Amino acid sequence: MAESMEKLQLACRTVAQTHGIDRNLVYGEGRWPHPRIMLIGEAPGAQEEQQGHPFVGKAGKNLDHFIQVLALRREDLYITNTVKFRPIRVSSKGTVSNRTPTRTECSWFAEILEEEIRLVSPDIIVTLGNTPLAFFTCIPGTIGDVHGQLLSVTVQDTAFPLFPLYHPAAIIYNRALKTTYEKDLDALRTYLESTMG
Ligand code: URA
Repeated sequence: MAESMEKLQLACRTVAQTHGIDRNLVYGEGRWPHPRIMLIGEAPGAQEEQQGHPFVGKAGKNLDHFIQVLALRREDLYITNTVKFRPIRVSSKGTVSNRTPTRTECSWFAEILEEEIRLVSPDIIVTLGNTPLAFFTCIPGTIGDVHGQLLSVTVQDTAFPLFPLYHPAAIIYNRALKTTYEKDLDALRTYLESTMG
């Protein structure tokens, strides 16, 4: 099994090489197989790229809150991103900032994410924002339509519960979403409690 995860990482490096991405890649990590939650974010940011781990730095603070509300530990999760490199934009002054990955960039990693879900085989998938949600093409609409709802998706012939959340970064730019996000997290906690083994 570990060998399969290594193969996935190799596949990530091949994708990067094929598309001329000369950046540090950030792979998924955590408990597998069968974590309580497989958390899928958008893409690594600067801190993640530098440290080589998903959801560290500022995003890690959001993750700590997520874990605390759900009464879990980081070790109960598997954490990954839709694309495994940091998409950047460079301003005319040379300032580097994060940007949302394009649909094309996401499609480069789609097969890898599919295989990753099969290997990890979580109790539930939680997506953050529109980018990982768009990977599940069977889900109609965007995060505004489906956040906080328990859905089901089929990946390689296996059905998984899916719970879409807003991306915590969206809350920074739209404070009105904070209450919604907290309510959705609460609903997820209730669901997890109801399915405790
Ligand atoms: N935001 C994400 O979606 N993923 C990370 O790893 C960090 C920030």
